[in-house]
Amino acid sequence: MNKVIPYSRQSIDQDDIAAVVSVLESDYLTQGPAIAKFESAIAEYTGAKYCVVFSSGTAALHAAYFASGLGEGDEIITSPITFVATSNAALYLRAKPVFSDIEPDTANIDVGKIEEKITESTKILVPVHYAGHPVDLANIRTLGDKYGLMVIEDACHALGAQYKGGQVKNQTVDTENDEWKRIGSCTHSDMTILSFHPVKHIATGEGGAVLTQNKHFYDRLLMFRSHGITKNKAYFTDTSASGQGEWYYEMQLLGYNYRMTDIQAALGYSQLTKIKRFVEARREIASLYNHAFQKNPYFDIPVEREYCRSSYHLYTIRLKDHLVKKRRDIFTRLREEGLGVQVLYIPVYLQPYYQKIGYKAGLCPVAEDFYSRAISIPIYHGMTRSDRDEVVNKILGIMDEADQS
Ligand SMILES: Cc1ncc(COP(=O)(O)O)c(C=O)c1O
Repeated sequence: MNKVIPYSRQSIDQDDIAAVVSVLESDYLTQGPAIAKFESAIAEYTGAKYCVVFSSGTAALHAAYFASGLGEGDEIITSPITFVATSNAALYLRAKPVFSDIEPDTANIDVGKIEEKITESTKILVPVHYAGHPVDLANIRTLGDKYGLMVIEDACHALGAQYKGGQVKNQTVDTENDEWKRIGSCTHSDMTILSFHPVKHIATGEGGAVLTQNKHFYDRLLMFRSHGITKNKAYFTDTSASGQGEWYYEMQLLGYNYRMTDIQAALGYSQLTKIKRFVEARREIASLYNHAFQKNPYFDIPVEREYCRSSYHLYTIRLKDHLVKKRRDIFTRLREEGLGVQVLYIPVYLQPYYQKIGYKAGLCPVAEDFYSRAISIPIYHGMTRSDRDEVVNKILGIMDEADQS
């Protein structure tokens, strides 16, 4: 089979393998010490007070929405340019996802358009940091505070990204004095979600996390992860329970088995020790692409706002008008030439399931336009120099061929 350069993939080294093997040789495959060690390391890296790891980013989203009290009849407002899990997790709780349109260049939710979607039922704003580029968090928080809404960041693309105070309307960021914060520090949100799927910045196979500064959310997240059960005496509802033995536990809410294994957590911890290098590598590839593709006549390249540093989970190019109709042929040719390109994403509400439950095409025109132009090209920390050169040359060659045809 010919070599394929995927749009993203994990990098696993001998240290990662040794970390997994050491758990396999230990007493605990799950619910052992590797979980707390991984959680503390993520909290320390991001600047959050609490971290709870889960069996996937989707489980983490479900848990965060649950912890926030989301339920039947409530609404969340999010971006349609995301993976379906962001809104599906609200449906799990019988809440309604409301999609608000995006900015054409970052493909992040357009904060200026959110207000018109807010209703009496709105409970949570869920910005998604598309491709690893932080959303304008300061303005999201301001809006949330104005209407008494929670903010939950879907940062499944954005581990390692940084932001400053945020973009305040009609005002540039104070680049001298504002401090850089890591996504996950929750300075502008109630909770932040991460994913450790192999295409992300660090891999655990499947896995995810919720970060928060809030002890109440933390306690609910822990219970939700494990069947709604607590063994913490301080939380027992049966006050006579202190007379019970060490076996005693209470199930206080309807939770799930959303636990991560120690095998995964050990891999995650080992991966996290390399996060600086992984993020720098992605940023370097993005910078090389920016240079190679600047002023090309075929497509627009990703932007990076002054208030942030993207961690480039994706590098999504947007075809210019004269090539939009040829996107399918271009995509096919890129695949034929061994580039594992993707289209990320189809606006969620265009999916057959969402259409069936009443969402209509045309809801978010900017997102639909973005979708018609988007191609996500390979970017990942383990890419070699020759892989990058091959990507650049093949893309420019195939675009030229399409332009001539
Ligand atoms: C934006 C976004 N949210 C949520 C998820 C779900 O994460 P996971 O695959 O770990 O369940 C993903 C995964 O691709 C994602 O990209």
